[in-house]
Amino acid sequence: MKNLFLFSVLILNSIVMNAQIVKDEQDVQDKINQLVSKLTLEEKAALCLGRDDWSTQPIEHLNIPWIWLSDGPHGLRRAPATNKPGYGDQLPATCFPTASALAATWNLDLVYKVGQALGEECQAQGVNVLLGPGVNIKRSVLGGRNFEFFSEDPILSGEMGAAYINGVQSQGVGTSLKHYTANNVETMRMYNNSNMDTRTLHEIYLTPFEIAVKKAQPWTVMACYNRVQGVYGTQSPYLLTDILKKEWGFKGIVISDWFAVVNRVEAMKAGLNIEMPKVSAVNDSLVVAAVKNGDLDIAVVNQLVKEILTIVFKAKSQEKEDAEFDMQKHHAFARKVASEAITLLKNENQVLPVTKEKYKRVAIIGEFSTAPRYQGNGSSEVKPTQLDKVLDIIKNKYGKEIKISYAQGYKLSDDNDLSLIEEAEKVAASADVALVFAGLPLHYESEGIDRTHIDMPISHNKLISEVASVQKNTVVVLSNGSAVSMPWIKEVDGVLETWLGGQAGAGAVADVLFGKVNPSGKLAETFPVRLEDTPAFFNFPGEQGDVLYGERIFVGYRYYDEKKIDPLFPFGFGLSYTTFEYSNLKLSAKNTTDKEGVSVSLRVKNTGYIKGKEIVQLYVSDKECTLQRPEKELKKFAKIELEPGEEKEVTFKLDARDFSYYDGKREMWIAESGEFIISAGASSRDIRLSESLNLQSTQQVPLAFDEYTFFKSYWSNKQTREFLKELLPNWIKSFTPKGKTMDEAVFPDFMAEHPMIKYPYITHGEINNDQVMELVEKCKNLTYRP
Ligand code: BGC
Repeated sequence: MKNLFLFSVLILNSIVMNAQIVKDEQDVQDKINQLVSKLTLEEKAALCLGRDDWSTQPIEHLNIPWIWLSDGPHGLRRAPATNKPGYGDQLPATCFPTASALAATWNLDLVYKVGQALGEECQAQGVNVLLGPGVNIKRSVLGGRNFEFFSEDPILSGEMGAAYINGVQSQGVGTSLKHYTANNVETMRMYNNSNMDTRTLHEIYLTPFEIAVKKAQPWTVMACYNRVQGVYGTQSPYLLTDILKKEWGFKGIVISDWFAVVNRVEAMKAGLNIEMPKVSAVNDSLVVAAVKNGDLDIAVVNQLVKEILTIVFKAKSQEKEDAEFDMQKHHAFARKVASEAITLLKNENQVLPVTKEKYKRVAIIGEFSTAPRYQGNGSSEVKPTQLDKVLDIIKNKYGKEIKISYAQGYKLSDDNDLSLIEEAEKVAASADVALVFAGLPLHYESEGIDRTHIDMPISHNKLISEVASVQKNTVVVLSNGSAVSMPWIKEVDGVLETWLGGQAGAGAVADVLFGKVNPSGKLAETFPVRLEDTPAFFNFPGEQGDVLYGERIFVGYRYYDEKKIDPLFPFGFGLSYTTFEYSNLKLSAKNTTDKEGVSVSLRVKNTGYIKGKEIVQLYVSDKECTLQRPEKELKKFAKIELEPGEEKEVTFKLDARDFSYYDGKREMWIAESGEFIISAGASSRDIRLSESLNLQSTQQVPLAFDEYTFFKSYWSNKQTREFLKELLPNWIKSFTPKGKTMDEAVFPDFMAEHPMIKYPYITHGEINNDQVMELVEKCKNLTYRP
């Protein structure tokens, strides 16, 4: 309410009217309408372009203010001024773990709190909109920006995005949900066409955005660089207006990714509010000309401007004067977040945790332990307020009770230099356990460039193998933003995936290695054995500007399941220092309808000796479906904490959408009747409990028959069969056995499997083309129950 008041006061000031009490949002909109009526066409065009690199255009004589937009996503990259790029000279801010790490926590409350902290930092540094989160799907392991995105799964990505947005926006700071949509490859990112079918677009690439928009209403959505189904994301009326604004009810503004606009007039027609950044005003004059010559409707421009002003005033009304943030507190919180993301992938012979009872001498090997790899390359690069190093933390915190030795192991400056391995072997051999810090150097993962392979540098891989050959207790501690191959996996006892853990990641790693924190992260993306096993292998990064999404909906685990390929580590996998038992999976009903849905409950018990957190995953499989469906799909998840011996009940509610597929022909979600299997798992390959459910659909779905629908389909539908009997009695009778009715006619497949449009020919002229089209017209409004 207070915000609404401030909001109104700002607008009232801006149109130089006497202050009055503004009662509701309608009032605010009325004032915005008045403002729009005072703007010239040139000013409207200018408002639809940024002022410079990071701000919106103010209109001074009407007191329309500007707002500050800044990267994002895992920390604030605020330039010294809105007209400076802010690379290298950005203001210090807390560098939180990147999105891959956040997703590996599977903890929505925690991600919400990360958002809150980011929002606080934005308020303190005068930023109104943080440019994140990125909910693009990790379609290929090679995607250069995978570190900046959450997951290969649309539900997990969308829920993470929504939690992040709600957190940031709770602080009166907006977000930019990016990059809308199907922005999954960096190679030729300014031109590539994400060429996919409509079903895939909806089920995989739109769903995360849909969840985030519906659950969190980001103030802005950032339209992508690439083309989607042949149309630039910034110019697609289907994506920006039909889906985003109309179908999902998005109430904010669409801004372009930086330099993503090709044709500003077409972009505005499609629903793009602001082109970013401002390089020149050339496009403003094109907009003015287009309005004047009737190509661009002024009503469209007015609507876009109203939406912009709504967000600008909303942002200004929520600014907090003298806002500050507590750097130390945020650093400590970043450490906690990083520790929840850490994913224990292998722990043979309980090599971890390191305790003084088990080991007296610990070898720390690898340059990453002194020069941490903690974030990715590109626009998301944060200048951290401080940066912890794991060697220092281990020495200071644990070095009194355990002897710590160190070897550099490899040179980050030269991947191929193997000269440091021998010394590392010696250090490893004279310890009781070796912790090898390895992974992907910074230049391996970058915005703008895709990876060409999934291997770590040769110096890292060789080092691990050599250390493991002299030290049986070898643990590999990985820093990387996306999956890597592990040729040495059988040679080592332990693997700890620590992701890109942000500025405080080192402390988190030490806490997990030494058992202060029980690891609880799980993979939000599949780790393949080989690049050749991955879903987009043949179609990444595309050719001649076209990226064929040939694997369709079979992205990530959906593909490995279907192809029965064993990954190195499956989606949803992660170990703990304790163990969990699942029991008592119950459905609220064995038979239900799409409208009623079903409640699912199960019990999870900590069967070990220490406190731990478990991530429970709920998958749904459609056993009988007209269309091809993945073996199973993640629909819900929960992270719970359990004391040793403690047991908790977890409940989930599944609704119509959780059973549905997207029908590309009918352009709608359909939940078909039939059997579904509901499974609870500790990972996508560790299903612990399953129950069968019978779903009765109450939907009425358009039949969608046309002239290309086969005779066979018309014949098998009760209603349309009657039409055929009237239209083609002679032809049907010629296939009716003697003494039988027309309904008992038997058509050879060869005949029946032709589209109706061919039936004038097939029936020797018993009907003509017009009659076929009349039949189609008659069937237009028919529906069926799926
Ligand atoms: C990136 C966006 C980023 C923008 C501003 C673009 O190149 O794709 O994610 O927010 O630049 O830096």
